[in-house]
Amino acid sequence: MKDLLLPLLASMTLIAVFGWNYLSIPGVADWSEEELKLIASLSLDALPPLPADPSNFVADDPAAAELGHRLYFDTRLSSNAQVACATCHKPELMFTDGLALAVGVGIGPMHTPSLVGLAYSPWFYWDGRKDSQWAQALAPLEAKHEHATDRVQLLRLISSDTVYRDMYENVFGPLDLPTVLPESGMPEGDLQQQASWNTLDSETQSAVSRFFANLGKAIAAYERKLLPGRTRFDDYVAQMLAGSVDDSALSNSEQDGLKLFIGKGQCVTCHNGPLFTNHEFHNTGVLAVDGRLPSMGRYDGVRISREDSFNCLGEFSDASSAQCIELRFARDANDLVGALKTPTLRNISLTAPYMHSGQMTSLTQVVNHYNEAPSSMLSHNEAKPLGLRVVERSQLEDFLMTLSAPLATEQKWLVAPDY
Ligand code: HEC
Ligand code: HEC
Repeated sequence: MKDLLLPLLASMTLIAVFGWNYLSIPGVADWSEEELKLIASLSLDALPPLPADPSNFVADDPAAAELGHRLYFDTRLSSNAQVACATCHKPELMFTDGLALAVGVGIGPMHTPSLVGLAYSPWFYWDGRKDSQWAQALAPLEAKHEHATDRVQLLRLISSDTVYRDMYENVFGPLDLPTVLPESGMPEGDLQQQASWNTLDSETQSAVSRFFANLGKAIAAYERKLLPGRTRFDDYVAQMLAGSVDDSALSNSEQDGLKLFIGKGQCVTCHNGPLFTNHEFHNTGVLAVDGRLPSMGRYDGVRISREDSFNCLGEFSDASSAQCIELRFARDANDLVGALKTPTLRNISLTAPYMHSGQMTSLTQVVNHYNEAPSSMLSHNEAKPLGLRVVERSQLEDFLMTLSAPLATEQKWLVAPDY
């Protein structure tokens, strides 16, 4: 009797929740109410509006986004005039570069992540060492292996280019230049750059750094336009919730993969919400590439973000300290050694290779990695071996392939502006 009663009760609950249609929906019958809730929470329809960024007063200013767009694609913002943000974060590759390790003026130690939907993230970089998108945008400009320019050179460029100067002043007000400006300069550059930086008085240094922060704020305003588009998975969820799933929805194998993703595969413990990330840091036992030390991950990242002069609490931020909750209350513990930011899985079929140093070339390799859950070089791997059969692993992969779609971003932002 009990055997009959439970399924009966379950069906009645589903009918109560989803109406009589539930009985006639193909494919839905396999989902429990719990599963349906979880699946709905992954849909793009569950994505809230973009959160405000109180640290950036021009975050939603259209003129700032135009300026940021121009800066983003401009190779003149680099020491060899060949590197722009778009060199590594290419629109046609969902703002990644297809390389294991990024190549700018030099080769860096990390893999280029996608920028799509990133404005929802409270932390930036694999180790979360930046707490805003505008503060993040400043680092590659001055990094030796990326753009390799500096804030003084950028001030010279922007102030001498009439188009840039007009756009800048329109957003941020008059660009008051110090009477004597060295060729280059930044506080943490090479000896030459440091020496020239130190010739400036502290008031001028502060003004130059504010100009520099403003460039980051304009770039961030542009990056906020890069939002994920509706995928086949999102259509499937919408159809299920509306009570009619059609043939273009997910195949059986893709649905089985989804079931593994939220169930036996445990992927959803970290890859959750409409962007398939919890925005947190985890150790998943991905080995460092040959010849490199394993990344300390978030353990170092949280420390660096607190010291950063461009952080939410710093003089260039537009937020009050009460608004810097993420930074002030950032979790700090030994289990963050080797923990990296959970990346989004939207558009994952288009952003190979994978992981923080591009260690894995295919999704097959990624799924096998989770299936085995090797021990970590530093601290411990939070994920446990899964014991998935070959067919299950391929279903999981099939599901991951349903998460790609053209961006929900106006075409003009996806190409370089006319210079
Ligand atoms: C040489 C290639 C290269 C260039 C040029 C470059 N980036 Fe990146 N970008 C990377 C790499 C590699 C990472 C990850 C580095 C890390 O986590 O340590 C990254 C990380 C980021 C992140 C954080 C992503 C996340 O998931 O947290 C943002 C945002 C970003 N870049 C934006 C920009 C902007 C804006 C520019 C131009 C000002 C730029 N990048 C220039 C390679 C590049
Ligand atoms: C404990 C949290 C956690 C779990 C569980 C987890 N992931 Fe991840 N995932 C991460 C983190 C963190 C990274 C980045 C790790 C790195 O780069 O070293 C990642 C990276 C990935 C990537 C590469 C993304 C990219 O852009 O490089 C894919 C694909 C992926 N995970 C899929 C899955 C699947 C499928 C499952 C379930 C079998 C799963 N993950 C389970 C946290 C998790």
